[in-house]
Amino acid sequence: MSEIASLSTGARQRQGSNIGQPMTRRDGVLKVTGQATYAADNNPEGLLHAVVATASISRGRVTHLNVEAARAHPGVVDVMTPQNRPKLAQDPDAKDHPFMFRLDLLQNDRVRYAGQPIAVVIAKTLEAATEGAALLAPTYDAEPAEVGLDGESFVPQVVGPGAPAKAEVGDFDAEYAGSATTLDATYETPAQYHNAMEPHSIVATWDGDSVSIDMPTQGLGMAVGRVAGLFGIPPENIHIRSPFLGGGFGSKGMPAGPQMLGIIAARHVGAPVKLVLSRQQMYGPVGHRGQTRQTVRLGMKDDGHLTAIEHHTLTTTSRFDDFLEPASNVSHTLYAASAIRTTHAGTRIDIGTPMFMRAPGEATGSAALESAVDEAAWKARIDPLDFRLLNYAEVEPISGKPFSSKALRECYAKGADRFGWAKRPLEPRSMRDAGGRLVGWGVGTATFPAIMFQAAARAVIRADGSGLMETGAHDMGQGSWTALHQIAADGLGLSMDETEFRAGSSDLPDAGIAGGSGHTATAGMALHRAGEDVIAKLVELAVNDENSPLYGAGNVGVVARNGRLVRQDDESRGEPYAAILERAGLAEIEGKGSGVPDAGPREKYAMYAHGAVFAEVTVDPELGQMRVTRLVGAFAAGRVINPRMVESQYYGGMIWGIGFALHEEAVHDKRSGRIMNANLAEYHVPVNADVPAMEAILVHEDDPHVNALGIKGVGEIGITGTAGAIANAVWHATGVRVRRFPITLVDVL
Ligand code: MOS
Repeated sequence: MSEIASLSTGARQRQGSNIGQPMTRRDGVLKVTGQATYAADNNPEGLLHAVVATASISRGRVTHLNVEAARAHPGVVDVMTPQNRPKLAQDPDAKDHPFMFRLDLLQNDRVRYAGQPIAVVIAKTLEAATEGAALLAPTYDAEPAEVGLDGESFVPQVVGPGAPAKAEVGDFDAEYAGSATTLDATYETPAQYHNAMEPHSIVATWDGDSVSIDMPTQGLGMAVGRVAGLFGIPPENIHIRSPFLGGGFGSKGMPAGPQMLGIIAARHVGAPVKLVLSRQQMYGPVGHRGQTRQTVRLGMKDDGHLTAIEHHTLTTTSRFDDFLEPASNVSHTLYAASAIRTTHAGTRIDIGTPMFMRAPGEATGSAALESAVDEAAWKARIDPLDFRLLNYAEVEPISGKPFSSKALRECYAKGADRFGWAKRPLEPRSMRDAGGRLVGWGVGTATFPAIMFQAAARAVIRADGSGLMETGAHDMGQGSWTALHQIAADGLGLSMDETEFRAGSSDLPDAGIAGGSGHTATAGMALHRAGEDVIAKLVELAVNDENSPLYGAGNVGVVARNGRLVRQDDESRGEPYAAILERAGLAEIEGKGSGVPDAGPREKYAMYAHGAVFAEVTVDPELGQMRVTRLVGAFAAGRVINPRMVESQYYGGMIWGIGFALHEEAVHDKRSGRIMNANLAEYHVPVNADVPAMEAILVHEDDPHVNALGIKGVGEIGITGTAGAIANAVWHATGVRVRRFPITLVDVL
């Protein structure tokens, strides 16, 4: 980490001027030159390799494993099964709080889904462990499996990990019945898998009752807590490093079962163990996005004003745990109507438990709602952008709260202008390109809540006047390491080169979770506060020291500028940090800060980022072949810490929106319950050839309420709205309304 910390990040910036600068990634050069050390790149002395054997049935029991054959294979050290797996301090099926998910850690012979770990083979080489796992040749007592949405359903209390499953304002039934025009449409979205480039992996080394771990994680503190609970050891005995992640998308938010199996295996054999999942093994025990069937009912007046919105979601969860995609919740906030009702139902199927994935709820929910709103606009014969403006929510419809800030009108206007939306004909199937392909234009509204978690940070100013900022933050590739370094430097009144920034390790103050698009806001606030704390301590020293030019200046105010403390009323009067510390005889001075959501404003205001996505598609009229040819997204998400990173986040989100609209689907075999396309050749994700000319517009937005830095999240909003915009463009091109994702060529022929 220290070699990274010393890297130059660009021009020397001065206090207050790091935030807002388009710095390049501080980890970029290391990554593209292969110098970045990912978890699986660690090879401690005496390392053994573990390979997970997984179930090929979806439900039933393992009746036999040929452990003898595997053990006899040259190089195999041991085979871990439910019979000999070391005892754990905590039942992997225990659930003390909604963020604690049940794990499959060889607790018994039960199979709950295809791909569930049923044994771990530990060997001197990866090849021997792989061969040993194949030699286990499991036999099963299989039971019939269910994998669709048509089984028995239940009404959950909560969705996601803890949001109410039902919300209502006004009298939906009365408003809907009295509407001049209604729409009742059902949309389906498939199971999707995260498919981060870097598979879940772990290298674990025990030393007595302490364990040292390299693993990719979006939540170092939560990972430490889970390991402490499972093994019955104190958190201070657990050291997790996670400096680089090859993507997470939610799948690395919670420690995954197979990662915990690597730690158990290391304890079992008394040697360091590396365990890395294969691509196929990532379709099962590490989460996914559950299928949804969403029914949207809209009622409106003759003039197109919405009066009633109902959004019902049926979604899948596993037989043994609850994560229900909260898709209906997007209808709480986007469009004004006097009556809104959102509900959810679940159905249990024989799969691994779904998990947070790329805007959980908003991605699926906006795909349905944005399609439905487009259908309603066509019924009213109103331009779909005008229809959205007509039904613009001035306050959050479900709660009646004002928005802390909402520059969505500017997003619509700027996006439409850049896209050329004004030229759009109302009628579908009325544009062609030079090659005779049908052309369609669609719009979708994007939104994502401005979530904050809890984080802590430590700030130090050293005798030489340089600074150090520490927080156990995570960079999945989104650039948070760079953005947080910018906030850290500004917090200390130093340049980035003068500020060492450490992150990516559990030995640092807990930075909360890199999820919910809340990491920069949360960890950033902790850094900001830690900076304020250490500067306040320096000021205290200076204003009470007769030998300081700032002696007695407490009342006029003292501020940090370029490594100096200066009088607020006269910035030419002051002195460098180093001088203050030297006179005080201190080698360094330390401050602490925490990032927590401020309850007062959160009570009073609805806090969301917003955006508008405009899509152009072409469709071959004979073959149905579809291409997204242009995407313009305009987003407003509060203060922009680093426009280069933010723009990339929006691009990434919109690209995943293309995947959602046209490519991604895990296909289950209905008889076996197994996923038939558990690989990147057949589970399609957008590649460069699928990505069109793309533009992300950063719309200015000041938010005085969301947090002291005015930061909302930018990570997930890009996928919301995009799938709907593309579906609407496909309709505009072809006149065919497809209510099932992904949209494929057979749907439009
Ligand atoms: Mo994200 S699905 O909150 O990692």
